[in-house]
Amino acid sequence: MNMEEVKNSLINDLEKANDLKELNDLKVEYLGKKGKITELNQMIKDIPNEEKKEFGQKVNELRTMFNDIYEEKKNAFEAAALNEKLAKEAIDITLPSKKVKRGSKHPMTRITEQFEDLFVSMGYTVYEGPEIESDENCFQKLNLPKGHPARDAQDTFYLKDEYENFLLRSQTSTAQVRVMEENVEKGPIRVVCPGKVYRRDEDATHSHQFMQIEGLVIDENVSMADLKGTLELFCKKILGEKTNVRFRPSFFPFTEPSVEVDVTCFKCGGKGCPLCKQTGWIEVLGAGMVHPNVLEMSGYDSTKYQGFAFGTGMDRFAMFKYGIPDIRTIYGNDIRFIEQFDKKDGE
Ligand code: DAH
Repeated sequence: MNMEEVKNSLINDLEKANDLKELNDLKVEYLGKKGKITELNQMIKDIPNEEKKEFGQKVNELRTMFNDIYEEKKNAFEAAALNEKLAKEAIDITLPSKKVKRGSKHPMTRITEQFEDLFVSMGYTVYEGPEIESDENCFQKLNLPKGHPARDAQDTFYLKDEYENFLLRSQTSTAQVRVMEENVEKGPIRVVCPGKVYRRDEDATHSHQFMQIEGLVIDENVSMADLKGTLELFCKKILGEKTNVRFRPSFFPFTEPSVEVDVTCFKCGGKGCPLCKQTGWIEVLGAGMVHPNVLEMSGYDSTKYQGFAFGTGMDRFAMFKYGIPDIRTIYGNDIRFIEQFDKKDGE
């Protein structure tokens, strides 16, 4: 092949190459050991001296030409391959996303947190006692000896055999006993104890398991006025500033004097409706001044210290606050129920 023929076939061949492989085959065909351009180059030695330079230059030009076209086509093939890959792997950002489902807090978790936040802001600590308790802590040390008639109102679940002295606590008041006993210095206490309690009950407003919160304050010079002020504030903060609070004399074995606390019905504002049975009031709390016997049984000097205590069902607060008609739905674990309380408190 002469120079001109090689040039023409080179342009032609490169033009026709369809992919990188064909292109590389051509490289071997032209520039390989026995390649067409290589052969031309080997001819230089047989050429008369005066033509050598020009011939050599032309071979070089051919090589450059080959390489230039080769590079250009190679780049084009690579770009095309990349574009194809990108197109194949493209993500369609206009597709609607899969929604991440936002969980929601259980209404009882919400209420518990509100109660805790409020009392912690008033300097209380939070203590959670165990749900399995001894008869002693649940009743005896709260001034309810065996056979005391007031035990009937709190019939609960007893353990068997060697644990027959244990039961599922029927009131968070048991935590009061633990807090007093654990306080080795027998000094001041300011604590709230939220948690589950159990009773042999089951209807629309009573569940065998429900939640209470207990409060206990012990110090020197604690009076009924402190109790009243604390509980009024508590009711207004949780149920709204317009809530009126009323104290009625009552009886609890562990307090003396004892009171029950009513609030104005949040449905009718006190006018009277089916919820408050036309009275305008709803009972929400039991409370009183800690009985000296209770203080003494847990090692406190009742001539030096006084205390007040209160206890309330948190489920009742949740039912009133969120308009839940049946307590059993609170513990039914139906996600459709729980979702309804999402953002109810403007969180
Ligand atoms: N433990 C009582 C109950 O479950 C509620 C209660 C009443 C708690 C008076 C108290 C209290 O601390 O002083 O019915």
